[in-house]
Amino acid sequence: MTENQQIEASNALESFFGDGLIMEVLYIVRSGKEATVYCCRAAPETGHALLAAKVYRGLEQRAFRNDSIYQAGRGANWETRKLRAFKNKTAHGREVQFATWIGSEYQTLRTLYEAGADVPQPIARARSAILMEYLGDLDGAAPMLVRTAMEESAAQACLRAILENVALWLANHLIHGDLSAYNLLYWNDRVVAIDFPQAVDARMNPNARALLGRDIENVCAHFQRFGLGANGGRIAEQMWRQYRGGRL
Ligand SMILES: Nc1ncnc2c1ncn2[C@@H]1O[C@H](COP(=O)(O)OP(=O)(O)OP(=O)(O)O)[C@@H](O)[C@H]1O
Ligand SMILES: [Mg+2]
Repeated sequence: MTENQQIEASNALESFFGDGLIMEVLYIVRSGKEATVYCCRAAPETGHALLAAKVYRGLEQRAFRNDSIYQAGRGANWETRKLRAFKNKTAHGREVQFATWIGSEYQTLRTLYEAGADVPQPIARARSAILMEYLGDLDGAAPMLVRTAMEESAAQACLRAILENVALWLANHLIHGDLSAYNLLYWNDRVVAIDFPQAVDARMNPNARALLGRDIENVCAHFQRFGLGANGGRIAEQMWRQYRGGRL
């Protein structure tokens, strides 16, 4: 990393250093559209050797994802002042929106991790970053599923594991909303889902059914290359029916 990148990382991760959770930033994993992910050396007390720090872009540099389909139905039990700020495009409104986005990813990871889903263990959150379990090792991060070759039988097991996860998330009223082979990592024969800031509550969001369908169809489309012909539309239909019937 350049000196500037080191400084930028140290600023964003200050509270994680201060709380004695991380010792050193080792390398940049990826600088994506909305965040930069770093591999950090963890403090031994955390029980991890490495941790991933996801730092969201500052408000200025960051093009907010077109998030109205995800935000619909959110804020039902917020105080009026916060809701008004959220809806306004003022600096304060954007600040509330930013905090909501990060808080939402952290809370979703906590809920899903506690439910036993295959997501990184969340460790801590700061103003513009979250700290979580690292998938990978000193040499590099786990590959995305989209870059992972596998035998048909492994592919079958992997698809099954992902669909079981989607069902478990839904049983906890959560839908990823941006699921694809780019937001699934493959590490030690295990698939782990990442990137949850846009996850929606299936009880509140009017687009929930459509987002569930898109997530499942994206995943099934990926596995066609391994000769699997899973029908995403039908699987989503069935899963949604079970959910609505309280049978998930
Ligand atoms: N816990 C983790 N362990 C290892 N690598 C991770 C972890 N979390 C994220 N990454 C890596 O960082 C990349 C970006 O993370 P993520 O998808 O959460 O952010 P993003 O802003 O949506 O980025 P992108 O626009 O690239 O999707 C991932 O594709 C993955 O390679
Ligand atoms: Mg992503």
